[in-house]
Amino acid sequence: MPNPTFRPGDIWHDQAGQPIQAHGGGILYEEGVYYWYGENKDAPTVSSEMVGHQLKAPIGFSCYTSADLYHWKHEGVVLRAEQINAQEDIPVQERPKVLHCPATGQYVMWFHADHRDYAYARCGVATSDSPTGPFTFRGTVRPADSDSRDFTVYQDTDGAAYILFASEWNKTLWIARLRDDYLDTIGSASRHFIDQSREAPAIFKRGDRYYLLSSGCTGWDPNPAECATAPAVTGPWTVQGNPCVGDGAETTFQAQSTFVLPLPGKADAFIFMADRWKPADLRDSRYVWLPCQFDDERLVLQWHDSWDLSVFEK
Ligand code: GAL
Repeated sequence: MPNPTFRPGDIWHDQAGQPIQAHGGGILYEEGVYYWYGENKDAPTVSSEMVGHQLKAPIGFSCYTSADLYHWKHEGVVLRAEQINAQEDIPVQERPKVLHCPATGQYVMWFHADHRDYAYARCGVATSDSPTGPFTFRGTVRPADSDSRDFTVYQDTDGAAYILFASEWNKTLWIARLRDDYLDTIGSASRHFIDQSREAPAIFKRGDRYYLLSSGCTGWDPNPAECATAPAVTGPWTVQGNPCVGDGAETTFQAQSTFVLPLPGKADAFIFMADRWKPADLRDSRYVWLPCQFDDERLVLQWHDSWDLSVFEK
């Protein structure tokens, strides 16, 4: 058997030989296991006058588990669209992210919940006693009482959790603290990147510094990524610019950020995770994972046809 590698842009299969369905995803790591949650888009795509292309009927969110990040077992659809839609009509279900809440012990999933015209602009919240679900849909919220589309949730090193979300009709990024039970926001939000239309946020901490990646707002079409850094989750954020270099840098290698995974136990090892959307056939959208490199404090992302975790040993 050849050594396993990541091949960004190829079809990635699970251990049963099926293409992995975990788009717009994020990873939770616990006790030697990576849990990859994402949109299961294994359904027909239809053209929509509103936003171009959408799933005919959403399926829900899948969870995959792995001990090494190369081999993934499908744990099934851990939150089904029917369960959500039995309570609330939410045909658009995107970008699930899961945190383990220290106060309640529950696994809390947040996702973008919307109507087909993307005007509902809420977050769905679901909980489970187990990281592999099943998750129970608890309803939708408007974080800090504002509209929310692309977002991420982040658990800081002190256990405090935050939501970072595109608000004000995607014009401005808001950051709000989550309640101790992680089921809603508490207090008011702060506003960042005002009128800069940033979406697809992905945050990580390196040393004492926070890094925030985002994309521009061009729907399924790729655009240049932007990286910013700050001394705290709530800012102030200073823009570094596009971290991508080389061919494809202007389109984030034809992809859009969704998450950055810190490798446990390593000080300086992070994987940038992005989606190469295929709007006409969304189920065939691909994963672009690349190793984060740093030039002093500057994040650098370079294309690799194929790479493996040994890049972090160098
Ligand atoms: C993008 C967003 C995706 C999806 C898409 C729909 O801007 O990042 O998650 O919502 O729009 O057109």
